[in-house]
Order: sequence, then structure tokens, then C-alpha cells
Amino acid sequence: MKVAFACDHAGFALKEAVIAHLKEMGHEVVDFGCYTPERVDYPAQGEKAARAVASGECALGVLICGTGIGISLAANRVHGIRAAVCSESYSAELTRRHNDANMIAFGARVVGEGTACAILDAFFGAKFEGGRHAQRVAMLDEIRP
Ligand code: RB5
Repeated sequence: MKVAFACDHAGFALKEAVIAHLKEMGHEVVDFGCYTPERVDYPAQGEKAARAVASGECALGVLICGTGIGISLAANRVHGIRAAVCSESYSAELTRRHNDANMIAFGARVVGEGTACAILDAFFGAKFEGGRHAQRVAMLDEIRP
């Protein structure tokens, strides 16, 4: 699967380990940066990866900032994006199964490398269940500014 990836400076250090884990899982990673620990703005980073997912260039995406919150807020401004902030694997699995989340976000100041990899295992290992959840997900896309 082709996976979009973005982080800000707070997520930069964790990004390298997480990308390696995704590649070990057999995924192709499109890295939208950042590429150094220099300060960058999470809204710009989140938007880049979100547009790649919304356009279909990438199937799913991963976002990291200090908390996972700012970068997910940015991604969720892009129509069709359902970015979920998770700090444990149960929520990561359920947001794929029930919300059809197409981006997962977490905070490098919140979770360590082991938990981050467990979150990715849960997220990428789960499938959207459809059924009663499909109508609710469709309702999300009907909400317009
Ligand atoms: C950067 O210091 C920090 O504000 C950012 O990474 C993120 O946590 C914002 O939500």
C-alpha cells in the first residue's frame, strides 16, 4: 500500500523509526517531510499529506507532531480526510473498522517508538467494516463549511 507521511519538527525524530517499520510491513512510503529538525508549521505539513490521500495518490496516511493534534486538525480541513489522533492501538484499530479513518495521527511527545509501531500495526491491520458504519461515514462527507 502507498502511504503518505508527514510530520513537523516535533515528530521528526520518531518519523525515521516509524517509516522503517512501515517499510518492513511492506508498504511504500511517500514522505512529505519535514526532512530536518528545523522548525516547520504543522498546518502546511498536514495539508501536504492529506491532499495526497484525498486525491488517491496514497491510500492512507500517517501524521506526527508533538501531540498529533495540530497536524490532524490541518489534515481534517481537506475534504474527504478522516484523520484520527490515537495514542493506543485499540482506538487505532477501531477508527479503521468503524470510521474508515484514512489518516492516523499521534504525538511524538505522547507515545514512544514501541507504542507508535503498535498503533501502526493495529491501524494497517484493520479493515473498514462498512454496513451501518458506511452511512455515518458518508454523513461526515456531507458536512460542508
Ligand atoms: C510544536 O511545538 C507543537 O506545537 C506541534 O508539534 C503540535 O504538538 C501541535 O499540535
